[in-house]
Amino acid sequence: MAQAVAGFTAPDARSRLDHLGTYTRTMPVTLERMFENALDWEHLPYVHATSFSGIECLEAGSWGWRARLDFGEQTSEIELRLYPEERRWITRTLAGERAGSEIWTHALVLDPEQLRVVVDFFLPNVPAEHRARVGQGYARQYRQLYDEDEAMMVERQRALALGGTTRSEIDLGPVADLPGVVERDGSRWRVVELDGALTAFDSRCPHLLGPLDDAPIADGVIRCPWHAYAFDLRSGRCLSGASCRMRPRPVALRDGRAWIVEAGGSNGG
Ligand code: FES
Ligand SMILES: [Fe+2]
Repeated sequence: MAQAVAGFTAPDARSRLDHLGTYTRTMPVTLERMFENALDWEHLPYVHATSFSGIECLEAGSWGWRARLDFGEQTSEIELRLYPEERRWITRTLAGERAGSEIWTHALVLDPEQLRVVVDFFLPNVPAEHRARVGQGYARQYRQLYDEDEAMMVERQRALALGGTTRSEIDLGPVADLPGVVERDGSRWRVVELDGALTAFDSRCPHLLGPLDDAPIADGVIRCPWHAYAFDLRSGRCLSGASCRMRPRPVALRDGRAWIVEAGGSNGG
């Protein structure tokens, strides 16, 4: 919900930005996941497909990023700067729709696995009588964005905790239950039918461990929901130009059961 923060002053008195509202949220995620998410410009049109329709990165680094971001018919040039020491990032709209606005986010570490974000919205030239309504609109949009980001960060944390297997062979169970997703001894496999045979692969994307359990497959190519990288399931190659690759494994059938042979290692191996 939008809440006023008593005594919060605009970042620069000359900028004539007004403080329109605040959104706060507590999430079961680490500061590391949160910073990673703020710097990850690439997920915006995919994880937040209802808010953003496209992005073109102009520059990016550990300092943040600058990009042209599309919202349906409209485009804005946006810059995000991360100040890790202050646990703060500032998102400025440099040009286009909502130019001049600044969104300040502070992360408060409640415990190592729990974070509160406080997001303040500053906009130029909003008539006084409209500020509360516009601020509430921003708070609604940020609730939606953080619903999506929280799910992504929690999933990534879970995927990191899974680790991988050191076994050389994995029993996937009865062939009759496949294709499907099978979790075994700290590893999770998606088994699909490809060229008339079963193929298994780590169900975590080799890029940033996005969930491939339900990722769509067409003509032997799978597309990850987080950054839309496409991978060729026959070769494992990333078709989106990244150097990461999947490692599909052949599935052997014995006495009505399916086995991954040469299971050890994870994606990217
Ligand atoms: S996690 Fe980035 S494309 Fe899969
Ligand atoms: Fe996000």
